[in-house]
Amino acid sequence: MDDIEPFIVLGIESSCDDTAAAVIKNDKILSNVTSTQTIHEAYGGVVPELASRAHQKSIIPVVDAALKKANISPRELSAIAYTRGPGLLGSLLVGSSFAKSMAQSLDIPALPIHHMKAHVLAHFIDDGSPAPPFPFLCLTVSGGHTQLLRVDATDSFHILGETIDDAAGEAFDKAAKMMGLPYPGGPEVDSLAEKGNPLSHTFTRPKVDGHNFSFSGLKTNILNYIEKNRRKDPDFVEKNIEDLCASVRYTIIEILMKELIEVANEQNLEHIALAGGVSANIGLRRALEEKAVELGWTTYIPRIEYCTDNGSMIAIAGYLALLSGEKGQINLAATARWKID
Ligand code: KG4
Ligand code: ZN
Repeated sequence: MDDIEPFIVLGIESSCDDTAAAVIKNDKILSNVTSTQTIHEAYGGVVPELASRAHQKSIIPVVDAALKKANISPRELSAIAYTRGPGLLGSLLVGSSFAKSMAQSLDIPALPIHHMKAHVLAHFIDDGSPAPPFPFLCLTVSGGHTQLLRVDATDSFHILGETIDDAAGEAFDKAAKMMGLPYPGGPEVDSLAEKGNPLSHTFTRPKVDGHNFSFSGLKTNILNYIEKNRRKDPDFVEKNIEDLCASVRYTIIEILMKELIEVANEQNLEHIALAGGVSANIGLRRALEEKAVELGWTTYIPRIEYCTDNGSMIAIAGYLALLSGEKGQINLAATARWKID
């Protein structure tokens, strides 16, 4: 086996507000570099125009750092994988044009990668933990997406449920904003929730057809609840922040887990994975582990560094694409919308 040349892939991610690059040698990560844009904090959310400008500033230093950390020269690369979509078009254009130009100058394939597939494929990085066997069910929860996916192969994804409005990450971020917490609010709500009582405040659960999700009603419910209580006591949020965060997190997790359990039962799937930024949530990780013990599931939860946007997930998706014989496509344009199935 030793005489087979390994694939060395540079992965570039720029779909939202993280400029990220990683180098992978077959399925082992050699480097994983992320520059998170802090400029959006002042606006309480990602400003697309500022995001693409910040990507332009960071892309060269981030790629350079990833190659240096991996101790790999550009000439050693087998291919460059990049996020083609979905995401913010201006941001995608920075990473995709950079990746395509660099690949062309090195005369190697440029591999267009689907961002949400890559979140799932991060499970195939060899980090010592077992990869999920096919078929498996993946709850993919990020700032832009919330999907229940049946994964039959590294290139075969079927949506069994998805959000009809806001994504789970958005629900966390918007609730955080209402409580005056800084952007991105998801991690903030999560850590405050650890010290609160999840049953102290009750929020509504949505009624949605099939196994789809909805978070916009919850958002309105939280807003009305906060406003009503603030009229009685202007310091209501400050006095109850931990309990409020715990109750918001509890409700979001309940909404996610209900559909996950139903779909797993219906599809007879016992290998259950999490993916996407919200899979970093301590409460969600714990809830999944607890259900797994009760229902006999085997669970696959990514390492924290592979939950939120990163270059490694793009690099592993690129490696798997090379394995399946992909040759790359230089003429494919970045796209803000791109279906997964
Ligand atoms: O996957 P990701 O990095 O970017 C997108 O593809 O959207 O996900 C970002 C989302 C944000 O909404 C962020 O608040 C959320 O993931 N997030 C969390 C946690 N860490 C990140 N949400 C809840 N708890 C966390 N610990
Ligand atoms: Zn993402």
